[in-house]
Amino acid sequence: MSSFRYRPEILEGVPERLTQNLKQFEDWFVLDAAELKKITDHFVAELEKGLTKEGGNIPMNVTWVKSSPSGRELGRFLTLDMGGTNLRVCDVTLSEQKGDFEQTQRKFKLPQEVKSGTGEELWDFVADRLKDFLEENPTGAQDNTSVPLALTFSFPVDQKNIRSGILQRWTKKFEVSGVEGEDIVPQLEAALARKNIPVDVVALINDTTGTMIASHYRDPQIKIGSIFSTGTNAAYMEECRLVPKLEGYGLPEDAKVIINTEYGAFDNDRQILPFTPFDHQIDSESLRPGTQLYEKMVSGLYIGEMLRLVMVKLHEEGRLFQDKDITRLRESNVVDATFLSIAEIDTSEGLDDMRKEFEGLFNFSPAVDEMKVCRYLTGLIATRAARLYACGIAAICKRNNIRECHVGVDGSVFNKNSGFKDRASQGLRDILDWPVGEIDLIALNASEDGSGVGAALAASLALKEADQIKTTIL
Ligand code: BGC
Repeated sequence: MSSFRYRPEILEGVPERLTQNLKQFEDWFVLDAAELKKITDHFVAELEKGLTKEGGNIPMNVTWVKSSPSGRELGRFLTLDMGGTNLRVCDVTLSEQKGDFEQTQRKFKLPQEVKSGTGEELWDFVADRLKDFLEENPTGAQDNTSVPLALTFSFPVDQKNIRSGILQRWTKKFEVSGVEGEDIVPQLEAALARKNIPVDVVALINDTTGTMIASHYRDPQIKIGSIFSTGTNAAYMEECRLVPKLEGYGLPEDAKVIINTEYGAFDNDRQILPFTPFDHQIDSESLRPGTQLYEKMVSGLYIGEMLRLVMVKLHEEGRLFQDKDITRLRESNVVDATFLSIAEIDTSEGLDDMRKEFEGLFNFSPAVDEMKVCRYLTGLIATRAARLYACGIAAICKRNNIRECHVGVDGSVFNKNSGFKDRASQGLRDILDWPVGEIDLIALNASEDGSGVGAALAASLALKEADQIKTTIL
């Protein structure tokens, strides 16, 4: 029996005419322990399939990060982070004391036209922002010496080594032409050369890999690095001998490598996930229907839209906002994940913060009882997202016989709403059957700095490995 309970308390005292048909939403969104277990078992098989030569839905990309930092990494590195919403530039100096570093950073918003323009425009934008940053924070390097740079690129890439990677497909509403199917490092290098910026790209990593490295650096019990944000994904350290697609690479018997699962693509063949009509609509109206189906049910980029569709449906059924003009609410993507967090943490009697959001975003002010219904629906959607998120983490643990570990989690959805952590942890408890009273054996711990310190450490490891290869050849 699941110990999971959805929380209808918020509906106490709300008139029946508003709550009458909410049962259908519970049927759609509430997932019990048995369902989560079934999804997780299928997930384990799909992770396994992704490691074979034939592959499957989940890419299970080899990152070529083969070791963990020792704590003795030193030096100065530039890092660029191109993920979802922002471009982040950092200058990181790793110093002798383990875990000690200095960091200067600046964030730039990635404009929509850059996310949907050409590759050249994208990389020129990135190079220009790096140039702006270097003008404000000179590295002090002589003109003819290049500073090492690591790029965190939070999209699926097929890598043959750590300093190259072919973009498999754009995700998260990016649609830049001329980049898919291409190695992105030479594209970035060409832009850096056009702008005369003397840096040397030494490592290309995913945000999950950066999170894994940065959090393991501070806490050796970390076995998984994960992002729960605009998109969702996880990386973990795998034994190369258990990866059939690495056969023939001549790797030592005991070699290990970080695998970037790219598990947002789980169940693209629609075998197991409990898709609702809203999930189908979000997918069919997305830029890439049929891709990232798990991510579309879980991550921050889509859960706001999910709530919007649900509110519009209830309006059309004559239950919500009957006397209101909902023109603004009918606009796609007008609700984002922040709305859900605000709604969930507003404990004031009149739901004042939530009301402000309604007025600001949709131009109308609902009755308190209507907002209570919306808050209840928010809880259903956010709980489903967190419990499905737990399936991915549980699947990695089951596949790798990990009974106990820490997971480093970064991302706005996880960090801005503590409810997500509690619900995801409850999901793990339900799936993995921890004894009642036992602490969380798989602990989800907030982590940050994957794309700053994590990327700098990856760059340092890459330079060390390149040095070792040179020494062996000489
Ligand atoms: C990308 C991943 C990334 C995740 C979180 C997904 O859409 O494919 O590479 O790790 O978002 O940023």
